Amino acid sequence: MELVLGIESSCDETSVALVRGDGTILSSVVSSQVATHGRYGGVVPEIAARAHLTNLPGLLDAALAEGGVPLGDVSLVAATAGPGLVGALLVGLSEAKGIAFGLGVPFVPVHHIEAHALSPFLSPAGGAARAVPERFLALAISGGHTHVFRYAPEGISCLARTRDDAAGEAFDKVAKMSGLGYPGGPVVDRLARLGRRTGPFPVPQFKDGSRDLSFSGLKTAVRERLLALGLEPRTGVLAARELRGEESLPAPLLDLLADFQEAVVAQVEDRLTRLHEDGPIPLLTVSGGVAANGLLRERLEAWGRRRGVEVLLAPRALTGDNAAMIAFAGLVRHRSGAPHEGFAAPARSRWPLPELPPLRGTALQ
Ligand code: KG4
Ligand code: ZN
Repeated sequence: MELVLGIESSCDETSVALVRGDGTILSSVVSSQVATHGRYGGVVPEIAARAHLTNLPGLLDAALAEGGVPLGDVSLVAATAGPGLVGALLVGLSEAKGIAFGLGVPFVPVHHIEAHALSPFLSPAGGAARAVPERFLALAISGGHTHVFRYAPEGISCLARTRDDAAGEAFDKVAKMSGLGYPGGPVVDRLARLGRRTGPFPVPQFKDGSRDLSFSGLKTAVRERLLALGLEPRTGVLAARELRGEESLPAPLLDLLADFQEAVVAQVEDRLTRLHEDGPIPLLTVSGGVAANGLLRERLEAWGRRRGVEVLLAPRALTGDNAAMIAFAGLVRHRSGAPHEGFAAPARSRWPLPELPPLRGTALQ
């Protein structure tokens, strides 16, 4: 059976994984740079690239040790080729090409968002992956993206996208304004559960009837409500001592977070409902960092049951950036026989997913 080595280095997580030809994850090790970049208030590309370079050899050894297989057993190598930070991408991409070349095995360049989109087919319990069907919709919702893509034999198309901030960016900005630190998603997820919804925020609509999303108005509305509550919105890079202690947060702030989180989920539900009305959704995958959100998970599962849509949520452990999804996407692309650039693939900062050729039948064995 095939053995796929996957490498991810598109942003601030370095990761190496081994996935078997049936989609079973043998190992997946991730090293996060959140703490390194935290003091700058965002990811610093040069620091990210250098950290990938430092972390990669140890992670490769760890992934092989955890998987219990020698490097020589690897029969396919996959790495993220974009979109992402070019300097960061180049580290993992070059390492992966070098390994594949040395082993004399094929190399598959992977689109980072496609890897997220396919991650829900991986088994959370560690068994074989589900076969990827010919037709499905993918909601990729993270700090950098909020898109709905349609996969079909005719091609991949984008049905909806955020026109401004990504959903995860909204979580991060709201957390920052509220003095809760970075990244915002996990802390807002936790605290919003303690609040009561008191004043709903409106779900934005575009005059042209588009299914696109928008989160910047919501962010502004949260800022205004913070001001109205007499809670000065925080700006700039916050030092640890400026962060609010979670034990002593005022109840109105918790309520505001509950209303904010509800507004994000309600907008996603609204867009999915309208897309389903445009044409029945055969299956929906939900992936990316924000797919870890407890409320989003509950509500989209319930939405799917109501509408008769199979909703596949990415396993929680695979919602953030990881190489297991990269190895799996490489495997699926390889099996599909769709053309790709192989060793000639460059690192791409911008790479629209619909430029990829469609996937064809990809039964895994
Ligand atoms: O996919 P990811 O690790 O990186 C990219 O952006 O590609 O996603 C990170 C984003 C951050 O904005 C983070 O705040 C958000 O995902 N996030 C969450 C949760 N966990 C992470 N958002 C809402 N609820 C969560 N539990
Ligand atoms: Zn990502």
